Amino acid sequence: MSTYIPDDKIAEIKESCNIVHLISEYVPLKKFGVNYRGLCPFHSENEPSFTVSESKQIFHCFGCNTGGNIFTFLMKFEHLSFPEAAQKLARKGGIELPQRESSPAQKKLEGEKGKLLKINEAAASYYSNCLRTKMGEKARAYLNKRNISKETIREYGLGCAPPSWDGLLTFLKKQGAALELAQQVGLLKYGKKNTLYDCFRNRIIFPISNYNKRVIGFSSRALEEDSAKYINSSDSLIYKKSSSLYGLNVALPVIRTEDSVILVEGNFDLLSLHHYGIKNVVATLGTALTDGQIKLLKRFTRNVTIAFDTDKAGIKATLRSLSLFLENEISPKILLLPDGLDPDSFIHREKADAFRKKLNQSVPLMEFFIDSVVNHNDSSTISGSLKIIREIAPRLSELRDATERNLYIQKLSHMIQVTEPVIRTELFTEKPKKPEARELLIKTSQQHKAEELLLQVMILHPEVISQVKQAQVLHDCKEPHLKRLLLFIIECFDGNQTITPDWLISHLEEEPLKNIVSELSIKGSSIIDIPKTVQNCIQKIKTASLKKEIQLLNTKIKEAEEGKDENAMQQYLVDKQKLLERKKEYASDHHSIHL
Ligand code: UTP
Ligand code: MN
Repeated sequence: MSTYIPDDKIAEIKESCNIVHLISEYVPLKKFGVNYRGLCPFHSENEPSFTVSESKQIFHCFGCNTGGNIFTFLMKFEHLSFPEAAQKLARKGGIELPQRESSPAQKKLEGEKGKLLKINEAAASYYSNCLRTKMGEKARAYLNKRNISKETIREYGLGCAPPSWDGLLTFLKKQGAALELAQQVGLLKYGKKNTLYDCFRNRIIFPISNYNKRVIGFSSRALEEDSAKYINSSDSLIYKKSSSLYGLNVALPVIRTEDSVILVEGNFDLLSLHHYGIKNVVATLGTALTDGQIKLLKRFTRNVTIAFDTDKAGIKATLRSLSLFLENEISPKILLLPDGLDPDSFIHREKADAFRKKLNQSVPLMEFFIDSVVNHNDSSTISGSLKIIREIAPRLSELRDATERNLYIQKLSHMIQVTEPVIRTELFTEKPKKPEARELLIKTSQQHKAEELLLQVMILHPEVISQVKQAQVLHDCKEPHLKRLLLFIIECFDGNQTITPDWLISHLEEEPLKNIVSELSIKGSSIIDIPKTVQNCIQKIKTASLKKEIQLLNTKIKEAEEGKDENAMQQYLVDKQKLLERKKEYASDHHSIHL
């Protein structure tokens, strides 16, 4: 863990905090067997599958597969970094933490970022002031015309920049601010005579905040038609367009309570929806949606509805984002508004109830995508059907949820009158883009189950780790996550570390691996004969791995046969014989155990 909080302090915090008490402050829990249960705060459910183990001091949700310990719970629930969560828990437990010791480079960077944020905040207060004074008359009238209330102006900290070339400049000078920094964040610019001038003039100003409510940049709209309609801050040390979302600071609590978010393009789309009481909205500010933005949203909810402009370009942009969403295991919905209206014009014309109705009618983007591909091709011809299948299959392959994928395959099969197996061929012959796509196939296999059980025993009964290590099973392990976890455990064991679920969760870097640990250790099946279980698992894994090697050799033998390569064939046959013998050995070992 790369933090400045020493291990003994972390141990002290853990001592001071019982996970059941901590989580009960946020989620009502009920005793259930040896564990506690409640409704998961990380996804919406009606039946409790969120489980907390007091003895192991960990939690796991069997619905959304999120798990962890006291630190990760707080990090996820309150969107904190590890040090922030640790600090909060330490405060609760009355534990004093040493002052942060960051490296000089780190300190310098943080100092610089802090200064830039301060400049932005000074500018934001200047713009907001302008909107309140005589200078802001035109801007106020404009916002009024667009139905933006005083309340909304306040909540979003809207402002305006007067037409002058040096309004902000003069203000910052008076404050004694470092003008160089204002130039770095794109508020001021150098002119021809090497003099500074204001970048935003005669415009409505929309401060862009991160979810910690710090102003990281600005968006702005022209009040006159004579200049670019929208001008936004360019990237700086504190603002990365590709991983920011406008309005997140205001929407966050609502996104959390409603467990859903609406994604719009425009500043006024967002403000108008907000004005009409629809407040779980964030805006991309016209840029194409990025992976960073989706990852940011995913921290708060997985239920995303896209409400971009529904003109041709808008729909194209929405469809382009499908793949990005699927890669992040989100199945977004698309909200379709009539007459090519954007949310801003629609809600003004039709009001909130009509919008909510449309929201309820929004369809999964995958479904919309399939419909539009089918409608654009002639499925009564072979070439048409082929085109349809080839265009849709890559997206279906990206769908991680097997049931969901099957339902879409079924739907497509009905739509174009092609049997499911034909569609499936295209799906699985398609090279999966990411290795994870293959996991779906492995997941249900006997080998996968054996690998999972083996890890479960290792986590719950670390005394078996040396046995597993001796068996050298790592190489035969197939599922990549489980394999990495196995490797990690063995390495830590070699380093004389006492393995507990809680320790693993604190020290693993990869989120999915943490979740596997919490899942396996809370599932806590009652294993009666531990050594025998371990032995069986190892045998199953090894046998499966041998089987695969033999299959591979069979292919090679066939190829050698066809190529009339006698020498190679001889060698392969010898190899195969060896493998078959080893397999037999395992089988007989296995037998003896059952006796
Ligand atoms: P639109 O062109 O749809 O503008 O761009 P709009 O929101 O309907 O504009 P209004 O209603 O006339 O004010 C959608 C969004 O894309 C961003 C803005 O955030 C805009 O709201 N955009 C657009 C830019 O950043 N730069 C541009 O040049 C245009
Ligand atoms: Mn628009």
